[in-house]
Amino acid sequence: MKFSPSAAHPLPDDTHQRQQPNPNTAPPMTLRVLTGITTTGTPHLGNYVGAIRPTVDASRQPGVESFLFLADYHALIKCDDPARIERSRLEIAACWMAAGLDPEVVTFYRQSDIPETPELTWLLTCVTAKGQMNRAHAYKAASDANLAAGEDIDAGISMGLYCYPILMAADILLFNAHKVPVGRDQVQHIEMARDVAQRFNHLYGNGKDFFVLPEAQIDDAVAVLPGLDGRKMSKSYDNTIPLFEGGAKGLKDAVARIVTDSRLPGEAKEPEGTALVTIFDAFATADERIAFRADLHAGLGWGDAKQRLVSLVEGQIAPMRERYADLMAHPEHIEDALQLGARKARAVAGPLLDQLRQAVGLRRMVAVAQPAQAASDTAKAELATFKQYREADGQFYFKLVAANGTTLLQSRGIEQGRDAGTWVKRLKTDGEAALDAAPADLGEGVDRATVAQALVAIREAETADAAAKLAAKAAATTSSSDVARATPAAPAG
Ligand code: TRP
Repeated sequence: MKFSPSAAHPLPDDTHQRQQPNPNTAPPMTLRVLTGITTTGTPHLGNYVGAIRPTVDASRQPGVESFLFLADYHALIKCDDPARIERSRLEIAACWMAAGLDPEVVTFYRQSDIPETPELTWLLTCVTAKGQMNRAHAYKAASDANLAAGEDIDAGISMGLYCYPILMAADILLFNAHKVPVGRDQVQHIEMARDVAQRFNHLYGNGKDFFVLPEAQIDDAVAVLPGLDGRKMSKSYDNTIPLFEGGAKGLKDAVARIVTDSRLPGEAKEPEGTALVTIFDAFATADERIAFRADLHAGLGWGDAKQRLVSLVEGQIAPMRERYADLMAHPEHIEDALQLGARKARAVAGPLLDQLRQAVGLRRMVAVAQPAQAASDTAKAELATFKQYREADGQFYFKLVAANGTTLLQSRGIEQGRDAGTWVKRLKTDGEAALDAAPADLGEGVDRATVAQALVAIREAETADAAAKLAAKAAATTSSSDVARATPAAPAG
């Protein structure tokens, strides 16, 4: 999956035909890689270098099964302009296909064509701690901004934004993806997906794991392209170079606007760290990079340097731009590709969802077994427990002790007793996701997965207890109001 920017990128070779892997019979050793693209914008050169090219390259590697989808349900969270949603889906799909994504090889689909996704989202929503969603970055940033502005904490925040990570967890878990290539800003979401997967496995699995625990894959070798002004290329900075829009002229005009210093032709230039050279590097071979630097040192004018950049990039994207134009003129070809993708994706998702429905008790009507109280009692006896205490050094400590007495997690000294309590609470709600930040170390010879499982088990037991109490309370109120309703009202008069 590693993509090295030092290699030149041959144009997609669409002459070769590969066998389409059947997701149901693929050998279990295949690494399943899945990623989604939120469909709100139009891809620019930075998206091409940072996401499209490395992902298309990776999808051609043997032993990798790629799932790539248009996250159009996620797009609805950020955008309420139907025309923009429609256009962006089309443009993004056309860009990926033009860049060499082969829908026969990759499972390429729209999120909104997979009804199993919202269905799984609900099953996961029911086992997700609300407190954990309060800490999700996107929601937290929005609610913190509200507080800072003196507004109501949730002003303008939709449930879509709030539940964003659960929908994303469903995207990933529905296909049991092992690796999820994402940007750093998405790592927390993958941790949340792992956490909810663990919780669901524990709660309903009966020893069987329905879900693979996904891992974020961040590729530091993939170039982050600077934009016209040298900051990261991004639509929000309005500093992008278009990928296909505006044709060769659009590319040339944008490159002309790349900011350089004011050295004249003939003066030696310092290539390192300039936006122009960094963008050049993303498309050049090692030899081309050396030659470009040497020429700049020797006084190549910025105008000529820009011309060289344009021909280099144009040489690689012109053939794709032609395919792009062709696809945009025949959206039905894109539609066909996506329908094929949806069929392949649903062939994987459907059977898993059937199992999950069974597991949570959404079953056909047959004779129902009596509840097994004894089983839940044994489960309780096997729970690990948190212990909080104070040592002679005056510091507060906590530890997590397994039912057999093994110390699973041992805290370091904490000054305030209250903080020790807060950490215990956080470990209980957030599980593994809180482990890295917690001032505690794994017990000797104990692995992280064991601790993660123990945390999930505790949380489940506590949630079940709390739910039982709530239900008992609700039952009590309902019956008293039933009584009230049954009492005949005094005749009006
Ligand atoms: N949230 C991702 C982003 O904004 C897009 C996305 C949605 C995604 N579902 C996903 C990425 C599942 C990876 C896996 O970049």
